[in-house]
Amino acid sequence: MKFFIDTANLADIREAQEMGILDGVTTNPSLMAKEGITGKDNVMRHYKEICDIVQSDVSAEVISVTYDEMIKEGEELAEIDENIVVKVPMSGDSIKAIKYFSEKGIRTNCTLVFSAGQALLAAKAGATYVSPFVGRLDDISTDGMALIEQIVNIYTNYGYTTEVLAASVRHPMHVIQCAEIGADVMTAPLSVMKMLINHPLTDSGLAKFLSDHAKVEKK
Ligand code: E4P
Repeated sequence: MKFFIDTANLADIREAQEMGILDGVTTNPSLMAKEGITGKDNVMRHYKEICDIVQSDVSAEVISVTYDEMIKEGEELAEIDENIVVKVPMSGDSIKAIKYFSEKGIRTNCTLVFSAGQALLAAKAGATYVSPFVGRLDDISTDGMALIEQIVNIYTNYGYTTEVLAASVRHPMHVIQCAEIGADVMTAPLSVMKMLINHPLTDSGLAKFLSDHAKVEKK
């Protein structure tokens, strides 16, 4: 399973990249705003900086919501770097835009997906990635992971090449469950990736190894 980091924070992206386990980056307008990135030129520059750090897929989301505007903005974003994936929020216009981009060889990530029907449309339009939001479904007492499983099964049934990118991943169990189900990608903040490292038995085991080693070294 590919690991994408879900942030626009350059320090976190660098840290995950240096861990050697990073396969890409996802951003969204809220994450860009959180970093205080405003104005078109700054936004474009920031995406380029991210691309220079990771040299792998970077999802850059359009702000436009109409077909014509999405095409214009998406083409500009795709010009920034060959690793830019144009992220479009699910809508009727977006499905048309995904089809257009896919025919032009511009890769896309269909975001804000909350149902299997939406995921089916995204795949039929030729999306590179589909992003079902696990955590936000859990937040409204709906099983987000069940949607990942449903989409993986549907795509397998028909051999769709669209990759299932589990988004809104909030904790390590989400990551494990995505891997068990066979999601192609999961995107999460750096904090969630770091939580995967920890286990109390690893900590106590290491402390014992080191203290036993110190005892014989003293002799
Ligand atoms: C997906 O690409 C989104 O950026 C993200 O995963 C949303 O996560 P959140 O629900 O924690 O905001």
